[in-house]
Amino acid sequence: MIRVLVTGAGGPAGVAVIRSLLSRADVEVYAADMDGWASGLYLVPAERRRIVPRALDPEFVNAVISLCGADSTNVLFSTVDSELPALAARRLELGATVLAAPSLETLEVTLDKFALSERVGSAARVPTTRLVGEASRAEKWDFPIIVKPRRGAGSRGVRVVHDRAGLDALGDDTSLIAQELLPGDEYSVDVLANAVGDVIAAVPRTRTRVDSGVSIAGRTVKNEELEATASAVARAVGLTGVANVQLRYDSNGAAALLEVNPRFPGAMPLTIAAGVDMPSLALDLALGLPLPAHIDFREVANVRFLEDVFLDPSEILFSENAAHDESDG
Ligand SMILES: Nc1ncnc2c1ncn2[C@@H]1O[C@H](COP(=O)(O)OP(=O)(O)O)[C@@H](O)[C@H]1O
Ligand SMILES: [Mg+2]
Repeated sequence: MIRVLVTGAGGPAGVAVIRSLLSRADVEVYAADMDGWASGLYLVPAERRRIVPRALDPEFVNAVISLCGADSTNVLFSTVDSELPALAARRLELGATVLAAPSLETLEVTLDKFALSERVGSAARVPTTRLVGEASRAEKWDFPIIVKPRRGAGSRGVRVVHDRAGLDALGDDTSLIAQELLPGDEYSVDVLANAVGDVIAAVPRTRTRVDSGVSIAGRTVKNEELEATASAVARAVGLTGVANVQLRYDSNGAAALLEVNPRFPGAMPLTIAAGVDMPSLALDLALGLPLPAHIDFREVANVRFLEDVFLDPSEILFSENAAHDESDG
């Protein structure tokens, strides 16, 4: 039996990875989260549920390393952005447990939207991107433009700046980037690359309805330009395994790069339904098994609804690091 630990079991990406791997007869899935109320924990048998510290806790990686040792975990999947660099930086300490994630170098360049724009350079169409301050003031912009955090997620801190006065008002804040506004349609492309970085599948999809930064309805789309652009971006950042490349059309009708999320997206069930079971393939990759040279997909649409799971209250795992927001009940 292959033992796999999936962290971030409370998030949609964690749930998608757990569900995919549960369908494999050769895998025992363990699920971890910082919060005992994380729904994905309850998809696996009680003896395979684990509570870990929050990602930014200095003890987080130590705790995961000892969990993996104690459980003889073969492969570790993290579905949480903020866990990934810390885990990848200490990959070797995981011993016999393989971390199914891109290299630390790839993680660092993709989690920094400015470094990403520089890295991809001319390998794909990248919108003009400058650090806010001297560099952004020196640029001849066509307003309006976008300003957003270098390291952001979930659209937090993204704003439209309408004129030079608005840009000047931001001062020198190099935690922000100024970026050419891409006015066209937006797509996400889920990409899987093998151990040497060859792209095996690139599945474009719309994000027709988005809730809390996660696409909850959309469709996969056959589109060679999107597939080729996302593949070129994946090669430029040295991707191995799975990433989600976000693209948007520019004013000339060319697909341009918004960002790369170096992990499983919350909309992964749609890509799986389209015929590319990326969690399962990423497991094979982590195990050193050969992958097909190319996997095709079909066009399919999805909608998503919430589902309640009822448990004996004594089953809920105790977690002291849980933070819940019950304000909107
Ligand atoms: N250059 C841009 N042009 C147009 N819209 C943008 C641009 N940058 C960001 N956005 C909008 O803001 C959203 C979030 O930006 P993104 O770069 O994906 O960062 P994150 O998802 O990490 O917050 C995008 O999905 C898009 O709708
Ligand atoms: Mg995004």
